[in-house]
Order: sequence, then structure tokens, then C-alpha cells
Amino acid sequence: HDQGLSQTPPMGWNSWNTFGCDIDEGLIRDTADAMVTSGMAAAGYEYVNLDDCWMAHTRDSNGDLVANTTRFPSGMAALAEYVHDQGLEIGLYESAGTEPCASENNQYSAPGCLNNEYNDANTFARWGIDYLKYDNCGGHGGQSAWERFLRMSDALDQSGRDIVYSQCSWGQEGAEWTWAWRHGANLWRTTADITDSWDEGKSACDNNFFMGVTDIVDFQDCEDMHRYANWGHWNDPDMLEVGNPGLSETESRAHFGMWCLMAAPLIAGNDLRNMSQSTVDVLTNQEVVDVDQDPAGVQGRKVRDDGDREVWAKPLVDNEVAVGLFNRGSSSATISTMAAEVGLPSATDYVVRDLHAHTESISSGGISASVPAHGLALFRVTVNSGGADTRPTEYLSDWHWM
Ligand code: DGJ
Repeated sequence: HDQGLSQTPPMGWNSWNTFGCDIDEGLIRDTADAMVTSGMAAAGYEYVNLDDCWMAHTRDSNGDLVANTTRFPSGMAALAEYVHDQGLEIGLYESAGTEPCASENNQYSAPGCLNNEYNDANTFARWGIDYLKYDNCGGHGGQSAWERFLRMSDALDQSGRDIVYSQCSWGQEGAEWTWAWRHGANLWRTTADITDSWDEGKSACDNNFFMGVTDIVDFQDCEDMHRYANWGHWNDPDMLEVGNPGLSETESRAHFGMWCLMAAPLIAGNDLRNMSQSTVDVLTNQEVVDVDQDPAGVQGRKVRDDGDREVWAKPLVDNEVAVGLFNRGSSSATISTMAAEVGLPSATDYVVRDLHAHTESISSGGISASVPAHGLALFRVTVNSGGADTRPTEYLSDWHWM
């Protein structure tokens, strides 16, 4: 299915983390407006995504999905047109089973797509939908996840419209990163649902409701999943909690930077209509976003672990490396690394650019910072060659599975 979509991790917003089932067309229109006026669109955010609870209880007499007429009286095609008119794209949510997850609550009971994939993909295409988050709730009719998710992938292809395919079946059918890309998922959820907290106290490879920022960072590093990330195919450690009440400003900044180092989809999960300046600054820091969106398409990983102090590295194009000094602990700490440890070649000196302070210094190889509790210092490091760096770029292939 990949259709050349999501050559870099998708960027946008999704309703679930803040609004749950409490969504309507006014919220979506206002969110699209805010994505533009806040500067997020200019920074690269484009998808305005509705999560669960947009559907009516039943299909119409043709067997087609319909939006809830109380909360979406204008219908999905009109809403898609509004979002497109703002220069943005729109996404919907559905499930590869008999019903979506929230459908267990009668107020939001709704049909899933199982055995209606071709018809439903055509409906999404007719409405002008650009992104599908496809969950795994409801009965499975005795069919494997492979069969069900593959059939929707094929249906999206057959629909004739470019629709990003976001698979959400984490942990339920084995390690998604080893197989979801094979049928063309553009991204696949790797973890249980995120919540707006720093640490839910999970042990390193525990993947269960609910995950704090550090629990997810641990899980992303606990499996060899970084090798499966590349153009059009991304590990999805769940949507952002930047700016939500359970995270401090420092924690939000660290959460965002870590997601960028992990080449994660950047799907904001806060209320875009009411953002503090600090939240806007975190989400739209172009130098940090550029780490996530780097065209090499490599997922960074941890290169050193000193208890609460971690060093992360993400190779970038043109032989640059993004370096994160991550302090998980509850007091500030000095964290240091060396050019060689993060994969840079030996050289006389390096340009170390601080992506939060937007300042540059020259270093003979050391990269070091005093990092606040629950904070991240983030740098872009380049050989200071005074000209072109002539190293071959093949070294990047070590980071990829293929
Ligand atoms: C489970 C998913 O993991 C969440 O992100 C959200 O989509 C809910 N389902 C909606 O019911």
C-alpha cells in the first residue's frame, strides 16, 4: 500500500488524547484553523485526525458508513473540504473488527470495517479522507490480523486515493514492526496507549496500559525495532502529550525531542485552540522537527545508559548526527558523550549546535551539558571541515534492517 506516502514521519494532530469521544465538527474546524494560525502548519504539521466516536450507530441503507448526525451535521465530505481549504489534510479512525474500541460503551456503539473493507475504503476516498488510523477492536470473525489489515491495505489501494495507513494493533498479534510494513502500513503502533505522565513505573519491556513518556522510551529501545523504520514505514510510539496537564514544560520538551530522535510520527494530542506560548514553541521548534523529518529516515537509539542518564544518537543526512542527552532522574545532572560514541568520524573539531538554545560552539569531540531533571539537551553535531565532508554515507546502512 505504501504508495510513496509518508516518506518522512507523518505530522499532525489527533483528537483522542485530549478529547476522547467528545468530538464534533466545530472542534475539528477550530483545530484546523489553529493549526494554521499557531504556526504549526508552517512547521510541517498537516493531518487533522479524528479518532474514535465520529460514526453513527449504524450504516445507511446502502451499507455505507455515516458520521454521527448530531455531532457532524454537515457530514464528513463537507468537513474534509473545510480542512482541505485550510491547506491541510484530514484523517479518520476505524477498526479491523466488528466494532471500534469505544463502541463497547453503548453511547458510541458503531460498526467496524470487518468484511466491508472495500466499500469503506471507497467511502473514505469519496469523502476526501487522507489518513486512516486502523485499530483492532471488536470481533475478528476468526480471521488473523494479517488477513484483516492486509485487506484494508489493498482496499485503500483500490480506492484510487492516496490515504496514509496507520495500523494500531500493538502487542496483540506479535511484534508489529516485523510484519506491518509488509502489507504496506505506513506506520504501526508499537506500544500501549500513552498518558500524560513522565513515568508510570513500568519495568523496561512492559508494554501495557498506560504508558508514561519514559516507559515508552524504554520499550522503543528494548526491542530491535529501529531497523524497520525507513521511508514510508515508521514505528509509532503513540501520539504526543506535549502541552497536556500531566507534563511540565521541561518534560514536554524532553518528550518531543525524544520522539524526534526516534523518528516518530509527530501527532499532537493537545487542545490546539488553547496553547501556552511554551507549548507552541516546543511543537514548532523547526530545528527539532528537522531531526524527526530528516530525509535519511533513520530511527535513533540509545548508545549509552548510565542509570538515569542516557545518550541517544540519530544519524542524519550529510554525515551529521543528532545527539540527545536525556536525564530521567529527579535532579539535574551533567551528561557527556564523545563524537566517536555517537558515530561521528574522528576529526580535529566539530560544530555542536544546541537545538533548544539555537547556539553553536566548536568542540574537539566532547558533547556535554547540564541537563535539568526530566530534561533533554539536544544537539546537531557536524565535522567542522570548513567545507564538504567527504565521508561516504554507507555507514547509515548499519542502522537499517534492509
Ligand atoms: C485504542 C488506541 O490505542 C487509542 O489510540 C485510541 O484510538 C482508542 N483505541 C480509541 O478507542
